[in-house]
Amino acid sequence: MTTSANDKMEKTPSESETITTQVVYPNDTNPMGMLQGGKLVQWMDTASAVCAQIHAGKIAVTVSLNNVVFLNPAKIGDVITIKAKMTRAFGTSMEVFAQVWARSITSTEKTLINEAYFTFVALDADSKPAPVCQIKPVTKAEKMQYVLAATRRENKQAKTISRKLFDESAG
Ligand SMILES: CC(C)(COP(=O)(O)OP(=O)(O)OC[C@H]1O[C@@H](n2cnc3c(N)ncnc32)[C@H](O)[C@@H]1OP(=O)(O)O)[C@@H](O)C(=O)NCCC(=O)NCCS
Repeated sequence: MTTSANDKMEKTPSESETITTQVVYPNDTNPMGMLQGGKLVQWMDTASAVCAQIHAGKIAVTVSLNNVVFLNPAKIGDVITIKAKMTRAFGTSMEVFAQVWARSITSTEKTLINEAYFTFVALDADSKPAPVCQIKPVTKAEKMQYVLAATRRENKQAKTISRKLFDESAG
C-alpha cells in the first residue's frame, strides 16, 4: 500500500514551500508607477494559500493577515518573487510567512520589499474547520519561526477576546 503525503503526521516547511513570480504591469501601479499595496497583498495571499493547502492537503481559507510591512517600493517592469513558507500548524489553522523581493530585469540585485504572516484554516467537504498535520522544523530559522508562531497566535487570541468584549459592551 502506498502512503500519500496527506497521511503524514508531520511535514517539514520545505515540503510545501511555494515560490511564485509576477511582473509589475501598468494596471498594477499607482499614478507614480509604483506597485499598489493591495495588488501585492493579493499575490502574497495566493502564494501563501497554495503553500497552506499543499501542507494540509485540503482547501484552506484566509482567516487573518498580520505584521504586514511594506519595506520598499517596486515599480513598473520589476520582477516580483514571492516565497511562502509554513511556520507552524495548530489544530485546524496554519501560519505562513510570506516574503517578497523585487528586481529589475537589468539588475542582478533583489530588494526585500514586503513581509507578512498569513493564517489559514483548513476546511472539510462541509466547509467546517478540519485538522491538519503538524510542522517539523529543521533549520535554525524554521525552529525559531516555529517557537515565535505560538507567541503570535497568543497575541491574536488576546485581540479576538478583547474585540468580543468590546462588541458585547457596545451592545
Ligand atoms: C475560518 C473560519 C471557517 C473559522 O470558523 P470559526 O467558526 O471561527 O472556527 P473555529 O472557532 O472552530 O476556529 C477554527 C480555527 O480558526 C482559528 N481562528 C479563528 N479566528 C481566527 C483569527 N482571527 N485569527 C487567527 N486564527 C483564527 C482558530 O484558532 C482555530 O484554529 P485551531 O483549530 O488551530 O485552534 C470562519 O471564520 C470563516 O469562514 N471565515 C471567513 C474566511 C474567508 O472567507 N476568507 C477569505 C476567502 S479565502
